[in-house]
Amino acid sequence: MIAAIAETGRLVAIASGKGGVGKTWFSATLADGLARTGRRVLLVDWDFGLANLDVQLGLTPGCDMMQVLRRGQPIADAIINFAPRLDILAGSSGTGAMAGLDTETLDHLLAAVRICAQDYDYVICDLAAGLDQGVRRMAAAADLLLVVVTDEPTSLTDAYAVLKLHGRDGDAGRGEIIVNRAKSPPSGTRTYATLAHACTAFLGHTPPLAGIIRNDERVPDSIRRQTPLLTRHPNCPAAQDVEAVVQRLLIPTRVDR
Ligand SMILES: Nc1ncnc2c1ncn2[C@@H]1O[C@H](COP(=O)(O)OP(=O)(O)O)[C@@H](O)[C@H]1O
Ligand SMILES: [Mg+2]
Repeated sequence: MIAAIAETGRLVAIASGKGGVGKTWFSATLADGLARTGRRVLLVDWDFGLANLDVQLGLTPGCDMMQVLRRGQPIADAIINFAPRLDILAGSSGTGAMAGLDTETLDHLLAAVRICAQDYDYVICDLAAGLDQGVRRMAAAADLLLVVVTDEPTSLTDAYAVLKLHGRDGDAGRGEIIVNRAKSPPSGTRTYATLAHACTAFLGHTPPLAGIIRNDERVPDSIRRQTPLLTRHPNCPAAQDVEAVVQRLLIPTRVDR
């Protein structure tokens, strides 16, 4: 089992429960940061309802996962190159065509992503908001689940729900927390403590803190310009904070080579 995992790139899924907390932006920036360290990275848009990774990055994919699936082509046909060592596997932008896929199709797609992962060091997977089967299956399959949370109460309760279900579906020990849009590092630490405390008290385990990303006006600026933050504002606070998460991910774990 370990040998099989070691042959493919490390699969990191990004979830949040609640939408609008910065999951897609964080996924793209984390993938970009990893690629800049020399790793080969595949960024997967696993949002079957309203995929928008390509929009955020200013990409026009020739085809997406849904189209290649319908045509019976290999999933790899929907991969496009975005930057050196950074490829994107497009979802189905805005059509909702992939929403409500049956579990058999989901497992087929999941296996296909695993096969694609053999060509990469990391696969970063931007999950949809909510907690449907697609989200839960990919989260359970991931080597690491990063749950993005902000200080809003609805974000905290949704992140807690993600971690709770992850403990049931997969390996609770593989879930970690990213606090996004923190007003300051201490404020981010308080947000983490609130969520971690609930997990400790009611789930019996404490997910580690994977990083605190400060709220930074350069983030919406770079999204509006459809230019990666690490290109447009490489030294801004949010960029520095994502780089710290990148460095943390580079530390070998039990599933790394
Ligand atoms: N660290 C941050 N600082 C400032 N704004 C942010 C930050 N992270 C995300 N945002 C804003 O939040 C919005 C929603 O982000 P997005 O990645 O689309 O969220 P999600 O994928 O969770 O729905 C973005 O358009 C961006 O302007
Ligand atoms: Mg999104």
